[in-house]
Amino acid sequence: MAKGKNSTIFFCQNCGFESSKWMGQCPGCREWNTFVEEPAASGSAGGAVKIIDRERKRPFLLTEISLDEEDRLTTGMTELDRVLGGGLVRGSLTLVGGDPGIGKSTLLLQVCRNLAMDGREVLYVSGEESLKQIRLRADRIGEFNDRLKLLCENSLENIEETIRRAGPEVVVIDSIQTMFHESVSSAPGSVSQVREATGVLLRLAKGLNTAIFIVGHVTKEGTVAGPRVLEHMVDTVLYFEGDRHASYRIVRGVKNRFGSTNEIGVFEMEAQGLKEVANPSEFMLSGKPEGASGSVVVCSMEGTRPMLLEIQALVSHSSFGIPRRQTTGTDFNRVNLLIAVLEKRLGLSMGNCDAYVNIAGGIRIQEPALDLGICMALVSSFQNKPIDSKTIAIGEVGLSGEVRGVSMVQNRVQEAKKLGFTTCVIPSVSVESVKEVTGIRIVGVKNVGEAVRLL
Ligand code: TYD
Ligand code: MG
Repeated sequence: MAKGKNSTIFFCQNCGFESSKWMGQCPGCREWNTFVEEPAASGSAGGAVKIIDRERKRPFLLTEISLDEEDRLTTGMTELDRVLGGGLVRGSLTLVGGDPGIGKSTLLLQVCRNLAMDGREVLYVSGEESLKQIRLRADRIGEFNDRLKLLCENSLENIEETIRRAGPEVVVIDSIQTMFHESVSSAPGSVSQVREATGVLLRLAKGLNTAIFIVGHVTKEGTVAGPRVLEHMVDTVLYFEGDRHASYRIVRGVKNRFGSTNEIGVFEMEAQGLKEVANPSEFMLSGKPEGASGSVVVCSMEGTRPMLLEIQALVSHSSFGIPRRQTTGTDFNRVNLLIAVLEKRLGLSMGNCDAYVNIAGGIRIQEPALDLGICMALVSSFQNKPIDSKTIAIGEVGLSGEVRGVSMVQNRVQEAKKLGFTTCVIPSVSVESVKEVTGIRIVGVKNVGEAVRLL
């Protein structure tokens, strides 16, 4: 039963790793059981862009290239514009990833509406929903004008033809996993189909100078290829996160060829679609308990914007031999390391205690500046001493228990002041940099011991 050499190839559905034989664990992303067999690519996939335009082939002087303002379209949502780096760039390919049902179609339909209202020609292609379903969603969002056209189609050939004929300025493809190209024999949603389809869209975007959004579902089951297999092909990658049961949604820029990454946009899901949250700190701190032990407010920088968050820790006596450690929203290994630092440097014996650390609101943050807050919350819960609710803590904690400086302390302190906090515990090396900020008490600490004595 020998097959022709290289007639099939194995792909990881999660990250797109290629292999000539099946493997249990992907060497690329360390996920288990993600390999599927697919026919070898016909050679056209891979996303190489062929620009036929002779004029663009000659080398240009850097100074000769003009950047006119018109190259950026505003999506009508400041939060999204910021994540995109100041608006949607013409001719760009943007991937919007996220779990099913989190609000990708809603967000993009709202963007289409705003752009159409702005006088742009917009085409929304859905491979998942019928025209009626889209109409029903649109009715919840608001009024639309007639510059937005809808197309229900799965065949990429037809979509390409429609785009070439209608010449829209912005196109949404919802979702890439439902699209298929006839030249690829594997099923829609497979790695080769998804890549081929993205390659076609990439050529269209660059060739026609059309901005294209691609929706990609993140799937746990591995039956369809995840958006990660496309990340290298597109210009911008945005991920939607947030607890499906909570109302807020965060759009995070993971890759951006036209701006900085790490920017986030905060939205709230309402009955009329997604609404921007202009002041996320206030939003994240709503419902914070007063006078409870194990709770402290920290400030994280999301791109250029400071955001206050509440860290909660619960340290309780363990009834079993092996203590449980659990984290939600922050790095598990980092918390274990901080517990070890507290045990060794402060002599706290947490070895027979369970410890749970949670960032309230369900947001995921991995920033070293949260270390000091995590330590203070842990000790506060362990000793059952509440932390003053008008205090925030900023600082990275090193292995010898020292509190190290972090970036943009001044912005963080200002944000705390704006929201009515009265005390900031910061690394002592940063005290100098915030001496202009008045009206808030600054406490510089050199090590976790000093911070904990403030409790
Ligand atoms: P959807 O945008 O279809 O998610 P995705 O395209 O990412 O799969 O829908 C997200 C959820 O939001 C859906 O469960 C219904 C809800 N929703 C609202 O709460 N309010 C609204 O105005 C709309 C349109 C949807
Ligand atoms: Mg959808």
